[in-house]
Amino acid sequence: MSELVVRRLFRLEPETLGRLAEHGRESLGEAALDEWLLPVAAAWGFLFVGELDGEPAGSAQGFRCSDKGDFYLDCFYIRPRFRRRSLGTTLLGQVLQLLGHEGGRRLLVTADPENGAAMALYDAAGFQAVEELGDFYGKGRSRLLMAAALGVEEPR
Ligand SMILES: CC(C)(COP(=O)(O)OP(=O)(O)OC[C@H]1O[C@@H](n2cnc3c(N)ncnc32)[C@H](O)[C@@H]1OP(=O)(O)O)[C@@H](O)C(=O)NCCC(=O)NCCS
Repeated sequence: MSELVVRRLFRLEPETLGRLAEHGRESLGEAALDEWLLPVAAAWGFLFVGELDGEPAGSAQGFRCSDKGDFYLDCFYIRPRFRRRSLGTTLLGQVLQLLGHEGGRRLLVTADPENGAAMALYDAAGFQAVEELGDFYGKGRSRLLMAAALGVEEPR
């Protein structure tokens, strides 16, 4: 079986930008990064894409928080036809490693506690609940803030 190759993108060619915007909308709806934010995330944040045989299967963006040592990850998705093949687990695991190399201490995420797939994935990756954020995205849109340690394993 092919392996997911995770890359950090820096500059987006027009075709890549269009495709990422479309894939994001398909998985995340109005919460997706659009053509105006994707290039900003790539140039000045951290934009990751997971590719299977050269085809984008999923993506996530991270940024450094104002609290020293923390990163925040959002817009994390695997395209519908690639789901339930452990690709989300692989993408998240590699993002944790890559951000660990950037000197981060914790990776923060928020998820809708009713999003069973996301909650199972974050739980399996070692994320722990930090705080309930009531009405975080507006009335009735509460989120759970979770964090995982970003450790880089020292060579023995
Ligand atoms: C959440 C998401 C990234 C998971 O991607 P994925 O590649 O399907 O995840 P994996 O195959 O690695 O699944 C890992 C585990 O998560 C759980 N899981 C995944 N999808 C699930 C579902 N639909 N229902 C219940 N549990 C699910 C399972 O425990 C699964 O392990 P298993 O397949 O061995 O049972 C994907 O469903 C997605 O993009 N959803 C829409 C966007 C989204 O909600 N993003 C998260 C925002 S916080």
